[in-house]
Amino acid sequence: GLTRKSSRESGLATPPRSVVGIGGKVAKPDYSEAKIVLAMVGLPARGKSYLSNKLMRYLKWLEYEVKVFNVGQLRRTRAKAKREQSGVQENHSAEYFSHDNKEANQLRDKLAEDCLEMLIQWLKEGGNVGIHDATNSTKERRAMISNRVAREKGIVVIFLESLCDDPAVIAANVALKVSSGDPDYMNMSREEAERDFLERIRKYEKIYETITEPNLTYMKVMNVGSQVTLCNIHGYLQSRIAFYLMNLHVKPRSIFFSRHGESVYNVEGKIGGDAHLSPRGQTYAKALPQLIHDNIGDANLTVWTSTLQRTIETAQNLPFTKLTWKALDELDAGVCDGMTYEEIEAAYPEDFANRDEDKFNYRYRGGESYRDVVVRLEPIIMELERQENILIIGHQAILRCLYAYFHNLPQDDLPYIKIPLHTVIKLTPKAYGCDEERYTLPIAAVDTHRPKPKAAKQPDVVVSTARQYLDPTIA
Ligand code: F6P
Repeated sequence: GLTRKSSRESGLATPPRSVVGIGGKVAKPDYSEAKIVLAMVGLPARGKSYLSNKLMRYLKWLEYEVKVFNVGQLRRTRAKAKREQSGVQENHSAEYFSHDNKEANQLRDKLAEDCLEMLIQWLKEGGNVGIHDATNSTKERRAMISNRVAREKGIVVIFLESLCDDPAVIAANVALKVSSGDPDYMNMSREEAERDFLERIRKYEKIYETITEPNLTYMKVMNVGSQVTLCNIHGYLQSRIAFYLMNLHVKPRSIFFSRHGESVYNVEGKIGGDAHLSPRGQTYAKALPQLIHDNIGDANLTVWTSTLQRTIETAQNLPFTKLTWKALDELDAGVCDGMTYEEIEAAYPEDFANRDEDKFNYRYRGGESYRDVVVRLEPIIMELERQENILIIGHQAILRCLYAYFHNLPQDDLPYIKIPLHTVIKLTPKAYGCDEERYTLPIAAVDTHRPKPKAAKQPDVVVSTARQYLDPTIA
């Protein structure tokens, strides 16, 4: 029942002399030209940190170097140092944020400037997007930022204003601030903290100026993506940031991941291919609708599968709209498609060792690396941000990449994430990060997780292997 001819069937069981594709390491994309100061603008409790964190997670997943420079954090660090050195306790209650408090105003401007200097320095050392996380609520403050960045060749500044007129969202943000162990409110009761924070917001409201400066590059986001205004946005990275922000929403929803039911290839220990489900895999496909129903009741859901039979067969009993995505197809193992790990080790020993050495970057000959997969999954991430309840029936490598996006996991760990068969993973996005629940159905299945061997070989063979296959005259 295989419709996709595996490379072994096509007679490529031994290493080819000429290039089928190079098995080896893929270079990291060169983003060194991209240098952006992203200066946040907005009253307290308007979701600035939410937006900056989401944006950071997305851009980091795409391998940009991103860092948040939080002015409030710097203020607290300095106040702590002062307290420890000279015993002087600065008062950072609402009064400190009043426009009439000249001394505190100067201090706060200085903090914003110093934070910007640290950010610019970091960009010069190789960063791509530095997020200046502060209220930056006056034209004067924004002019300071804009003039300072203008002195740096190759660095641009974009202002990102977060507006919110939904009292429920503001109240939730206030509650989060005062209940999250924020150091500003360490020695206060919850009620006192809330009163003080609301007073601080009022102080800012008195002087707040929404962005209207025509010379600035800016984006305004109303209620997290429900309305977006763009002004003077140019270039690839800037448009990408804008597009991402346009697709966000904060409606409650869950994203479900499941691998296809156990396949015939899984049972045989073979990778890739387009096999049917095994009998146990079919049992999983029959049991899945009840599990999903128990979870979401009558709420709506859309099912996404890959174009491979094992995912489509797993979805077939689900009473929901289904979409097939080519981008969700399993990582392409190239010439190793259809082989077992043992067969790969015997036929391509160096490749096998190289993959263990740097699994994220290793690209199968004629196939893909995890890094390639991350790039091709970007439209899926964008669409997931736009949608509400989604169930993805996918594959081991694909779900690892998507899972890493939602949990902000590093590249080195990504290819080893455990995504077992016959298990549904439910992710529920929260203000910061995601809640997770896992449901494993009591239907036995093989374990396809191959841990990183303890003594993986050194990576220097990567280069020579790659050259060998590039130039057939090198033995
Ligand atoms: O074994 C199942 C499978 O989905 C293969 O088709 C795929 O090549 C493999 O998992 C990916 O996992 P890993 O990157 O750990 O080899």
